[in-house]
Amino acid sequence: MKEGHTQQPLSPCLTPFEVRGLKVDFPVLLAPLAGITDYPFRRLALEFGAGLVVTEMLASQAMIRRNQKSLLMTSSLGQERALAQISGANPQIMAETARFLQDMGAMGIDINMGCPQPKVVKTCAGAALMQDERLAGRIMEEVRKAVGIPLSVKMRLGWDMNSINALNIARIAQESGVDFITIHARTRSQMFSGRAQWELIRPIKEAIKIPVIANGDITDLKSATECLLVSGANGLMIGRAALGRPWLFARLKAYFDTGDITPPMTIGQQREVVMRHLQALLDFYGMPTAVWMARKHLAWYSKGLRNAAGFRDRINRIEDWQELLFAVQTFYEALEEI
Ligand SMILES: Cc1cc2nc3c(=O)[nH]c(=O)nc-3n(C[C@H](O)[C@H](O)[C@H](O)COP(=O)(O)O)c2cc1C
Repeated sequence: MKEGHTQQPLSPCLTPFEVRGLKVDFPVLLAPLAGITDYPFRRLALEFGAGLVVTEMLASQAMIRRNQKSLLMTSSLGQERALAQISGANPQIMAETARFLQDMGAMGIDINMGCPQPKVVKTCAGAALMQDERLAGRIMEEVRKAVGIPLSVKMRLGWDMNSINALNIARIAQESGVDFITIHARTRSQMFSGRAQWELIRPIKEAIKIPVIANGDITDLKSATECLLVSGANGLMIGRAALGRPWLFARLKAYFDTGDITPPMTIGQQREVVMRHLQALLDFYGMPTAVWMARKHLAWYSKGLRNAAGFRDRINRIEDWQELLFAVQTFYEALEEI
């Protein structure tokens, strides 16, 4: 595929859908990434055309305590097109949390059945729910009863290759009134290793009526197209590939809408996005959290650019906001001069 080359529109690959009045015209979603997909990042992804975004995982046990952190994490829900993702293992607490998030303005609720982290699965939450189909079913039913907004479930293929049961969970989801599902095409045991097996999504898509979103290892136009063709999914969810590259959504949108392969972002355009993101972090978190969050994102934005290692080293030692802005300007200006 050559830059600037126009092909036939590929929109038939993506299948837009509507659930409970929520239209997902461009079914390419930003994935939930704990500690990363906060409001500033979600807003950026939406500005670049993501069809829907998902919050970081919101632990239901913490949410019902309404502590300061959970209130900050949910404060923006009324202003964006976001699903609020909840995790936990207690059906009543999950339902109560979902109701609270609906009241906070969430467009929909997503139930986490895919998190592989030991500290989550040891509480029977996240991917551990796939090992207990009855409990998974009760959670879906209780949350469904609690809210009228769209409800989705994000799962993996199963616990390990010997217990692939995403189809069972998908069927239970459909029967419980879940509106759509997302499948990260790996097992819990795989964590993030190996390759996402998109082909294992197809039999699930063919067996159920509700929309299916494919997830895992989608990084560019080629993998996006391939994943859709192999999985037969309605749409895609993108996580790690959007880090430091939120414009990936715009690139995918142009491609799927018109067949256009847009030229890569210039350094000047990248700098403009970075500065906008930094300002949003400062507005949302204030100091000193804004600096800590900025360092993380700047490491992703600068990846692969000239002198990135030195830049990261420098910003990791900066505590002052103005100094940070100066370092960023200097870094990008030097790149623009080349
Ligand atoms: C740092 C990190 C944090 C994540 N946090 C969550 C989370 O809070 N909830 C969730 O369902 N998945 C979470 N995931 C999984 C992603 O949503 C996604 O399923 C996975 O990264 C595969 O997609 P990708 O290849 O596009 O990144 C996380 C993944 C990473 C790398």
